[in-house]
Amino acid sequence: MDIKEAIEGRISVRSFLDKPVPKSVITDILDTARWSPSGTNTQPWKVVVVQGESKKTISEALLEAAKNGVKANPDYDYYPTEWVEPFKGRRFQCGMDLYQALDIGREDKEKRLEASLNNYRFFGAPVSLFFFIDKVMGKGSWFDMGMFLQSVMLAARGHGLGSCPQASTSDYPDIVRNILGVSDQYSLICGLSLGYPDNDKPVNQYRTQREEVENFTTWAD
Ligand SMILES: Cc1cc2nc3c(=O)[nH]c(=O)nc-3n(C[C@H](O)[C@H](O)[C@H](O)COP(=O)(O)O)c2cc1C
Repeated sequence: MDIKEAIEGRISVRSFLDKPVPKSVITDILDTARWSPSGTNTQPWKVVVVQGESKKTISEALLEAAKNGVKANPDYDYYPTEWVEPFKGRRFQCGMDLYQALDIGREDKEKRLEASLNNYRFFGAPVSLFFFIDKVMGKGSWFDMGMFLQSVMLAARGHGLGSCPQASTSDYPDIVRNILGVSDQYSLICGLSLGYPDNDKPVNQYRTQREEVENFTTWAD
């Protein structure tokens, strides 16, 4: 696949076919992504491939926590506590576009809640990858992780797979670490739902918006 098409055609997939992903394919994706750059080649990524029973157990535990109103306790702050423009507006638009694709009205809190709980069902994906980083590593290594994550998503496209990165699946990192037997020396960054996309579903048919290049670029000649 052409690199431009690979990057521009990637979307967050939130509905998957009930079709298993062979272990050899997952291994090949990670085998490609391991060539991502990292500061001083530290390669800070740690990945746990979650499927079958472990996926079911994590899904049930996350749903139970969320439904019982357990306060999310992520290992890091993804977002600001006080939203300001232009981020506030973009975030709002992102939500509106998603709910429109799901045909959920602005006031329908029940359906919105159910849609957000689908995060913990991995949107029906057969596989979820969980990304961890050793707490000894600094902020710089976190953007190494971001590059690694993008490499995984692009390599997945090469196999006809879709993916959705999910910070939501790191809302309760202790639950995930316990089930997977991962030491609390590792921060849970996010999950990535992975599988063959159900392209017939409207939720996989809309595009999020982007700023034009001139809106985020200045030229210092
Ligand atoms: C690190 C990261 C975490 C994300 N977490 C979630 C999530 O928990 N749930 C979700 O539905 N989408 C999540 N997204 C997807 C974003 O909403 C999505 O990337 C953004 O709206 C742009 O849309 P696109 O990926 O379709 O281009 C996440 C994206 C990233 C990069």
